[in-house]
Amino acid sequence: MAKTPLSMEPTGWFQVAWSAEIEVGAVVRMTYFGQEMVAWRSASGRVSVFDAYCEHLGAHLGYGGHVEGENLECPFHGWQWNSEGRNVCIPYEARPNKGRRIRSHPVVERNESIWIWYDKHGRAPYFEVPDIFTAFGDDADAARRYYPPVPAAIRCWRGLELHPQYVLENGVDFAHFLFVHKTPFMPEFTRHDFDGPVSYVDFTIAFEEGKTLENAGSGVYSINAGLGCSVTRSWGMIENRTMPAVTPVDEHTCDVRFTVWIGRKPGEENATGMTPYGQTMADLVIEQFAADVEIWSHQRYSDPPALSRKEFAGFTALRRWAEQFYPDGEDLGTDPRMPHSGAIVPLHPSAHVTSA
Ligand code: FES
Ligand SMILES: [Fe+2]
Repeated sequence: MAKTPLSMEPTGWFQVAWSAEIEVGAVVRMTYFGQEMVAWRSASGRVSVFDAYCEHLGAHLGYGGHVEGENLECPFHGWQWNSEGRNVCIPYEARPNKGRRIRSHPVVERNESIWIWYDKHGRAPYFEVPDIFTAFGDDADAARRYYPPVPAAIRCWRGLELHPQYVLENGVDFAHFLFVHKTPFMPEFTRHDFDGPVSYVDFTIAFEEGKTLENAGSGVYSINAGLGCSVTRSWGMIENRTMPAVTPVDEHTCDVRFTVWIGRKPGEENATGMTPYGQTMADLVIEQFAADVEIWSHQRYSDPPALSRKEFAGFTALRRWAEQFYPDGEDLGTDPRMPHSGAIVPLHPSAHVTSA
């Protein structure tokens, strides 16, 4: 294990929980980016993620703070704060303190998960969290064709000494598939698109013995929204979608979450929870990801790396792309003031070749 030289404060969306973990009325403590935070869900279902300390006299809202309708009430003197972090009530005064505000992080709830936007410079979000169905050109109803992933098809590793970029590099690292994932041949990339803050990487891959690059008939599409959030969709194999998410906890460690959607098999269209078939398939996919985690969590970042001739283009493009998310990184020309610059391409360009 070795501390990464890469900044642990990249800009982007980062998963801090699964939706199911933050029920209505819940106030949940968490630490990300070296900061104490609380996530809470209002009576109407809206999730907010605050800096943990009350702006009045500094009580920690995660110890006794509670939800009152659409507000979070501090346990110390009963001041209430709305989802924007604005003070809306001082119980013993006629008026709230309009000027005072608790930092409320931008939140998106998508793909059964809660994401916060982190930007060291305080810029507003300029790209999206991809919807794991519509980002691949599917209708929003597609979720029904999959077993519900939470809680049976998720896994969380806490406090690992790794960096979000290691996980992204996995996508351009074709050689590791042979060794870590035991694929019958070396996958081949069909798309590398590192133009904007959302990148697209597609490849041909198979897991069955005897398959070759020529007769594989299967592959994976992936969309990477910054360094913290990726979604993948398989084609030509067990219908699955995955969502790896890596969130910095502090200067040394990250939490890694992985969510798997498995396509329902015929006859199980209406099963309410996970079935033995779905569980078996989900476990196989999780096992593959866990094999990567084992490597990443003990890896030392190699810079410059000793790349083979074939590896050079992919890694170089990925690492150059990653720089734009670091606080002191080179701006690759993405104008954060232009919200369109990070829009997800709704119909994944390669989706027409799917067999689904
Ligand atoms: S410290 Fe929160 S209300 Fe006083
Ligand atoms: Fe991998």
